[in-house]
Amino acid sequence: MTSDGLQHRLAVALEGGDHRGWLGRIIAYLLVTLILVNIVDIALDTVPDLYQHFHLEFAAVQVASMAIFTLEFVARLWVAGAPAPDRPETPARARLRYLASLGWVDLICILPFYAGLATGEPFRFQVLRLLLLLKMTRFTPALGTLGRVLSAEWRSLVGSLLILLSLLMVSATMIYYIEREAQPQNFSSIPAAAWWAMAALSTVGYGDLVPITPAGRVVASIVTILGIGVYALPVGIIASGFAREIQRRDFVVTWAMVARVPLFKSLDAEQVGRIANLLRSRVASGGTAIVRRGEPGDCMYFIASGSAEVQIQPEPVRLSDGDFFGEMALIHDAPRGATVVALTRCQLLILDADDFRGLAQSEPRIAAAIRSIAEQRRQQTAPQSPAG
Ligand code: CMP
Repeated sequence: MTSDGLQHRLAVALEGGDHRGWLGRIIAYLLVTLILVNIVDIALDTVPDLYQHFHLEFAAVQVASMAIFTLEFVARLWVAGAPAPDRPETPARARLRYLASLGWVDLICILPFYAGLATGEPFRFQVLRLLLLLKMTRFTPALGTLGRVLSAEWRSLVGSLLILLSLLMVSATMIYYIEREAQPQNFSSIPAAAWWAMAALSTVGYGDLVPITPAGRVVASIVTILGIGVYALPVGIIASGFAREIQRRDFVVTWAMVARVPLFKSLDAEQVGRIANLLRSRVASGGTAIVRRGEPGDCMYFIASGSAEVQIQPEPVRLSDGDFFGEMALIHDAPRGATVVALTRCQLLILDADDFRGLAQSEPRIAAAIRSIAEQRRQQTAPQSPAG
């Protein structure tokens, strides 16, 4: 294989995402395993008994891992400069772009080891291997989602932090003035009282500082109850941000799938968006029945990718990308006329019966096209054997 061929092959394996192939999947699994082994290694290294017996093995794991991560970094840097038809930038610029995106993470994971080597103590900064956890963002899409949620919601999160800080200061000041005479050694200043307020607000209540005056206890009860609400605020913000992000991603995926269905080709972006909002996506694995003859029909299906077979007499009919089925039950308000089985893994878009009726009003041309194909199918379909 030529150097260009190898560079391209490695680029697909390392950065190809869903198209990275078996080599890319093996590399990703190996790297994730190595990261986890290193995290366990850091922890076990601090157990005196284990350290005594296995410190050579622990060190060997660390040296081997660092060699592999260095190789990975060099390979990623090399393939980042691979020529790509849709990217006119120079290899140097492309490599800088890699360094600015996730390359810096790959780099700071190995730097502490080499910094240690330079000082003559390779294992000096070994706890910094925890930075390897940052590398997991590449392999865990959920962490990327969390990052996007945090960056989208940072204003609300800063707002809730400010509320928390205000409450902390108010409760620390109140408890300081209430308790300072009864316990001058414990509540000696507002910063000292702030430690109590933090423990009370987070409902942890370490118990090292406890109000003893009746007024102090009343304040403590109120602060603890408020604490639950204040901590629920950022949790709620992040949870709803997550839900929005997942909905947005689903919408984008559905949009791309809708745009592939020939029936929707004539629609403009706004109409595609409206229809994408009506459709749900579902995956059917090869061999499963998607609809069964005789069942009531409450939705119809568009095949975004894959192929399915309509089991009718005398010959089954094969449907594939862009075709639809399940419309007859909706149009004639009748049970399913045939069983439809997925032949391969099918990505389906589902339109519920109510939305089908809504679509018939908002997009009469599409509804007319569906009806006319349904009519052709009805004429073609011979009566089925009971086993059909
Ligand atoms: P429905 O009756 O709801 O469920 C079974 C589906 O099979 C039916 O809707 C049609 O979408 C589809 N179907 C029935 N007959 C044919 C045919 N001759 N060609 C293609 N698809 C068909």
